[in-house]
Amino acid sequence: MKDRLGTVTATIVAGVLIILSGCNHIAKQNEGTNLSLKISDFKPRRVINFNSNWRFAKGGQEGAEAADFDDSAWQAVRLPHDWAISGPFDPDENGYAGKLPWKGVGWYRKTFTLDKADSRRRVYFDFDGVMAFPKVYVNGQLAGQWDYGYMSFRVDATPYVKFDGTNVIAVQADTRNHGTRWYPGAGIYRKVTMTTCEPVHIAHWGTFITTPEVSDSSATVRVSTTIENNSDAESQVAVEVVLLDPENRMVAKDIKNACISAAGSSELVQSFEVINPERWDVTEPKLYTARTIVRTGNKIIDMDVNNFGIRTFRFTADDGFYLNGRRVQLYGVNLHHDHGPLGAAFYTRAMERQLEIMREMGVNAIRTSHNPPAPELLDLCDKMGLVVWDEAFDKWDDKADRVKGQPPLREYGEKQIRNLVMRDRNHPCIVVWSIANEIGEGGRSGVTPERVKFMSEFVRKYDPTRPVGMSCHIPAMAERPNFDALDLTGWNYSRRYDIYRRRYPDKPIIYSESASTLSTRGFYELPLPTSKTDFSEQLQVDSYDLNSAAWSDIPDKEFKLMEDDDFVAGEFVWTGFDYLGEPTPFSQQARSSYFGIVDLCGIPKDRFYLYRSYWRDDVTTVHILPHWNWPGRIDKNVPVFVYTNGDSAELFLNGKSLGRRTKGQFPERPPDYAQGKAAEASSAESDKNHVAAHANDNDSSTRWCAADAGPEQWWQVDLGEVQPVRYLVIDFEKEEKNYGYQIKISTDASTWQSVVTKSTSRFPRWGGPTRAFHSVNAEARYVRIEFNELGRGTWASIREFGVYPKKVESDYYAVTYKYRLRWNNVIYGPGELKAVAYKDGRKIGQAIMRTAGKPAKIRLTPDRKELAATGEDLCYILVEAFDIDGVPCPLADNLIKFELAGPAKIAGIGNGNPLSLEPFVADRRKLFNGKAMLILRTIDGKAGKVQITAESEGLAPAQISVRCR
Ligand code: GAL
Repeated sequence: MKDRLGTVTATIVAGVLIILSGCNHIAKQNEGTNLSLKISDFKPRRVINFNSNWRFAKGGQEGAEAADFDDSAWQAVRLPHDWAISGPFDPDENGYAGKLPWKGVGWYRKTFTLDKADSRRRVYFDFDGVMAFPKVYVNGQLAGQWDYGYMSFRVDATPYVKFDGTNVIAVQADTRNHGTRWYPGAGIYRKVTMTTCEPVHIAHWGTFITTPEVSDSSATVRVSTTIENNSDAESQVAVEVVLLDPENRMVAKDIKNACISAAGSSELVQSFEVINPERWDVTEPKLYTARTIVRTGNKIIDMDVNNFGIRTFRFTADDGFYLNGRRVQLYGVNLHHDHGPLGAAFYTRAMERQLEIMREMGVNAIRTSHNPPAPELLDLCDKMGLVVWDEAFDKWDDKADRVKGQPPLREYGEKQIRNLVMRDRNHPCIVVWSIANEIGEGGRSGVTPERVKFMSEFVRKYDPTRPVGMSCHIPAMAERPNFDALDLTGWNYSRRYDIYRRRYPDKPIIYSESASTLSTRGFYELPLPTSKTDFSEQLQVDSYDLNSAAWSDIPDKEFKLMEDDDFVAGEFVWTGFDYLGEPTPFSQQARSSYFGIVDLCGIPKDRFYLYRSYWRDDVTTVHILPHWNWPGRIDKNVPVFVYTNGDSAELFLNGKSLGRRTKGQFPERPPDYAQGKAAEASSAESDKNHVAAHANDNDSSTRWCAADAGPEQWWQVDLGEVQPVRYLVIDFEKEEKNYGYQIKISTDASTWQSVVTKSTSRFPRWGGPTRAFHSVNAEARYVRIEFNELGRGTWASIREFGVYPKKVESDYYAVTYKYRLRWNNVIYGPGELKAVAYKDGRKIGQAIMRTAGKPAKIRLTPDRKELAATGEDLCYILVEAFDIDGVPCPLADNLIKFELAGPAKIAGIGNGNPLSLEPFVADRRKLFNGKAMLILRTIDGKAGKVQITAESEGLAPAQISVRCR
């Protein structure tokens, strides 16, 4: 099939012309075709990048919209621009939005001239995103505004511009009424373009390409083009659509004529048959191109070029997701819109790098939580073969800029959904439109069956080809007809979809948020957490990947769930990258999240390798954790985990084998002497069946609860005979910090010995574990807990009380043995750890972790060495400290200073520490657990060599160079 043009017939199967308005003398098809005309010869539509040479000032700026306003004292900026990311951080501010100064008003101004020869033409400005409530003034007059900070919008500047002399565009951004649950950024944070075109032109987002029929031998491609006539005379046009295959060869062509009435518009539909179509797929994302040329007579008056894909997909209720007839498990991540040290400012390269890192881990699906992404994200996903859940909103309230519920949801929803769907609907990567995330029922902006219906219908009005869904979190909402109008639903966390599945057995389910595991890159604390919400008091989260938010789980639990519930299309992990804001569990103290699989700068945490080991079998993963620098733990226990796609591995410390572990080999559990034995209690809420026996029935869904809220309550168990009592595990109803008690033991139930005394604690952190573990060293027949203090609203109440002859790990973690290899009892000594991994008995690879000496030198590693001198290309340089022998120093925190020579600027600096309040825009940064990231931006039109020098006291400096072309 080398020369498609020669061997393949491109036929027009149907040529439909829909005239919405205007004249009735339709000219004959295929008239006036001039195949030899090259588009590059003619520029009927000019789209200019409008990002450079703006001026910016923060604050009210009285009169700043006026053309003659004096902005000479304002700061010169280049878009994209996020005015809040340079800080300063406010340490006293709650961390939910990054402790950054995003609230306020900011003004942007730019002057421009237009070509006199264009004076008949239309002039439009397209904004991809302005945070928030943008008002756009052209030469002092309000030309347009928008009321959703994440949405792209167009401003028709034609009535306000001059074609002789200087024009001024002024934009006000005002975040004061924007609501948020994370860092939103502030200002014109995505690109702006200026489009000039003829009065008769293809409408904005006016090309819609679908593929109604696809088989291996042929595909029907339907191209709808809306032409808009902004003149006061009707216009006779010929619309030529050419389809190019992924190798850029023409495979089909059609020309239609139409008459567009004065001040009217028409939609033309052209259908094509493409023989032996190449599929767009996550494995090979083949992209076709539709080139649309509009002519009057022989003159080209407009053109548009759109990529599209030929593929089929369906979500099924019983067997997940099918792409091109093949079941594809979704290995997805949620991504917030910010780019760490760059803030909300959107750079295509930053996005591309995020996606590259995610794809390297095995990701094949992205959820744009919880808002419309920059359009370039979708171009990238088209090219890279990632399917997308494109989300319109988090909530329908002020987080979507509907302040106090205004404007009415129906009006507002249609307007926003129209823009989102029309903008994005040609992207083959999109497989779901989402209308919301986790909205409760009723109220001014809550879910009702009617609201879900009209929001879904708005989507279908603009794209009838894809399913509409939303992310849900309250199971009981499915008991009512709330979700009737949706094609599918996403469910967030903990298998909450049971009720929904019973009610809608025919509707597909996606696990739209999974995991919410928490960790800090490179931070380890021992002993290991005893439960998922047992967090370190150092305000960092342990990186053994055993911690998660209370409502969620560690990765292994979700792997298992997806295996068990294979009717679900797959999971979207919360989150791929750390993001600014929402620093659960240290919401007050930290400024960025702990959820990411990679840190805020894109440096992988250990979890990255756990996902890669499970999601990718085409590459070998062997990853050891933790680091091997534990001077304070010589001869003490340091557990070692290995993440590998192998099925087993052998671990060596300084050449000595520590044994081989195999996945699925669960450590033996000692007996629980309490289970099923006679239990009694001071009182019991018997009417609710919260009887004493429920605290040792091996069922944590049942519990014993005292009859009232009084603290003086007790519960005890008779083990039947005297037993070694070494370890107690108590699973309380609420966080264990709410309970103060004593534990007593006895051999005869008359003399009691107190072995544990514990008071309630006010540890100022969110949540906390519900389980308490106590080591005791005794022999006893009776074990008794006596409460003496209870937190507010807490009753004496126990789900399970276990008595063991030796220390046990919480059964919550049993599943980890299926997906990780664990050596729990390694006695630490410095040197070299080596893991050799096997699969089906064959060695597949190995990993080595060495104890590092003192930091001695810096290493700089750029992600790319050739950059484009566009002003928008970026270089990410990994900064690390090594010891004298070249071993990475996992705990290094040296302050590194950077110097640049050549055409580039520092765009941002970070180190992945969620607590750091060092500015993101600076020339120095402390390493965090041995690493930091320097991000450079190129300068528009300035080519040359950029030399980067890194220095730090006591370390050998490093120097590298990259080239801008
Ligand atoms: C979800 C929510 C997300 C994020 C996440 C953290 O409930 O949809 O936006 O807040 O929790 O686990």
